Amino acid sequence: MDKLIIHGGKKLKGEVDISGAKNAALPIIAASLLTSGYCVISRVPDLKDVMTMGRLLAKLGAGFQYKNRKATINTDGINFFEAPYDLVRTMRASILVLGPLLARFGKAKVSLPGGCAIGARPINLHLMGLAKMGADIKLESGYVIAKGKRLKGASIYLDTPTVTGTENLMMAASLANGITLLENSAGEPEVVDLANALISMGAKIKGAGESIIEIEGVDELRPINYSIIPDRIEAGTFMTIAGITAGDIIIKDCRPEHLDASMMKLKEVGLVFEHIAGGIRVIGPSRPKAADIKTMPYPGFPTDMQAQFMALMCLADGTSIIKETIFENRFMHVAELRRMGADISVEGGIATVKGTSKLKSAPLMATDLRASASLVVAALAAKGATVINRLYHLDRGYEKMEEKLLRLGADVRRVKE
Ligand code: EPZ
Repeated sequence: MDKLIIHGGKKLKGEVDISGAKNAALPIIAASLLTSGYCVISRVPDLKDVMTMGRLLAKLGAGFQYKNRKATINTDGINFFEAPYDLVRTMRASILVLGPLLARFGKAKVSLPGGCAIGARPINLHLMGLAKMGADIKLESGYVIAKGKRLKGASIYLDTPTVTGTENLMMAASLANGITLLENSAGEPEVVDLANALISMGAKIKGAGESIIEIEGVDELRPINYSIIPDRIEAGTFMTIAGITAGDIIIKDCRPEHLDASMMKLKEVGLVFEHIAGGIRVIGPSRPKAADIKTMPYPGFPTDMQAQFMALMCLADGTSIIKETIFENRFMHVAELRRMGADISVEGGIATVKGTSKLKSAPLMATDLRASASLVVAALAAKGATVINRLYHLDRGYEKMEEKLLRLGADVRRVKE
């Protein structure tokens, strides 16, 4: 397992290019199952999760090639309709093949993703919606077995605005017979990007990004050439890096409008933003002020930025209250930050962070994707050599992170094991 060694304490300066969004690439690659022929998706990040999705599509009989951030998918030869446990357990987003397989082929057998480090991660709302659209859904020995000749449009209310639930149901409804209303749907930019990709395929979708999405099913969809939006969470992560190193970073190819809540909070703690063509310049304060956050569905403060923001607050001048309302166990990074001298106490879904004047380097263990990002953020401000183990967590969602950090002047190296 690779590890990262970071000697912190340097002000990071320079430019960073933001990669395509992982959480847009995964559903859009899955959406290629809704049509036959060649789909070419560009600006696809070179990430483990993307390769896992490619392996899954290949298992279903699709052709999947990835080169220079372009994924070429040929879905003429789909002849297998099962997403096996050994693949799904490595990447929960595999559940995104359920809606497309069912809608196009009338059948799908997908392993239940099970929980993960940050929570139970149920998919009951995905299944409720498909059942409302007329699918016969059975759970057998850890698998979802779904059948349905032709799905029909339905009015579906989602108890929580689930991101992949909204995506699965939007894809299924695109080929259903009739009109589907998804109420209380997720409005994340990645959901909107998927909707735009589906519309390019010929789907009839209105209201993506709002809480009610209307999908009028069509008989057939066509293959597309499509380019993914930039990764707002990667951009937000580099903003916290500028914040914690008192740096001056130009974040290129990002969409600041996708990060309103995060940028408002980062401004509150003292970061200064300067809009430039095609990106944004971020200047970090000598020491951040404290601020409270509460994670919420989009456009609220994103749960995927919570761990990185907490790392920044460890060095704040004051105490910050961090409320995690989306996942029940998304504080795995707390124990590791404490090992660096952070003063954090946790009660239920609330972390109280008392800012200290410095963090000490230490050997650390990454536990999940965004927790590992928060350890990188903290390590960049800690004197001495911090070692971050189990780097595969970081590699799931950040493309060539150490190369991007090196270009910003960080003292970082990957040790392959
Ligand atoms: C997506 O996960 C993202 N993953 C996550 O990003 C992100 O943290 C999450 O949305 C929230 O923004 C992808 O897009 C691939 P949810 P998802 O369904 O769709 C409950 C990262 O770091 N829920 O929106 O699985 C659930 O328990 C990853 O890139 C149900 O109760 O999240 C949770 O409390 C981590 N029943 C809440 O909804 C369901 O059927 C939000 O989960 C579905 C969800």
